[in-house]
Amino acid sequence: MPLPRREAAPAKLNLSLHVTGRRADGYHLLDSLVVFLELGDVVTVAPGPLSLSLTGPFAQGLAAEPDNLCLRAARLAGREARITLEKNLPVASGIGGGSADAAVVLRALDARPERPETLGADLPACLAGRPLRMRGLGEILVPLPPLPQLHVLLVNPGRGLPTPAVFKALAQRDNPPMPEPLPDFPDAPALIAFLQECRNDLEAPAIALMPEIADCLAAIRATGAALARMSGSGATCFGLFATAAQAQAARARIAGANPGWWVAASGLAPAKH
Ligand code: C5P
Repeated sequence: MPLPRREAAPAKLNLSLHVTGRRADGYHLLDSLVVFLELGDVVTVAPGPLSLSLTGPFAQGLAAEPDNLCLRAARLAGREARITLEKNLPVASGIGGGSADAAVVLRALDARPERPETLGADLPACLAGRPLRMRGLGEILVPLPPLPQLHVLLVNPGRGLPTPAVFKALAQRDNPPMPEPLPDFPDAPALIAFLQECRNDLEAPAIALMPEIADCLAAIRATGAALARMSGSGATCFGLFATAAQAQAARARIAGANPGWWVAASGLAPAKH
């Protein structure tokens, strides 16, 4: 693929996240419905010696250190590249930013590592970049048919939450899996009705570590969202709405009342591949 390449790194959203077990090595087995949003970071990959520059509203939340996932992705690909990351998503927030960024770097460098999940559990899903049911540690992916459009509100309390701490605080590790998704969801209400039967098992431990997450969920519910839930290991929560106008109105209301929070509205990303 010719470089330079500038590509969106769509935010990942776990519409559901069931923790169904734990392996002997401590990693957890998941069952999750994953979608991608229009909203995301932007990554530019250009020829040159390996380097990373950070821009964008959340650049200060990251350091351009060797363990940054973009640099790790380039090293895994065995390639040099000059990478610029426009960080629009809050860091360590349960919406896949780091994995999404690393997936763009791998794609731009035409790298297909055998075990991308070594960079992060969400990496295989982010490489696929389409609605999926994700199982195992994140490496078992079942593509879903195109989903009806969802209008998503995102609310983050303004602090990062480290994933290992959330898994550690989980009381019940052996929970029921998701119900079987329909072969096709005809419209948003059908999808939302299905999601109401699902859970995010990491929500309770995340709230125990960061009580503001419960405040975010309450604020989303108060705007009349059809569903309010946390994504991934948090702390970002989401609400689903019937129309983009409703999601935007809820965004304005919550942002106005909570100046320290990050609040955004987005549709689902169009399928790429
Ligand atoms: O792979 P990722 O960076 O998202 O994982 C961060 C940490 O979260 C892991 O080191 C592990 O402690 C925990 N984790 C887990 N089971 C998973 C995914 C992550 O226990 N399936």
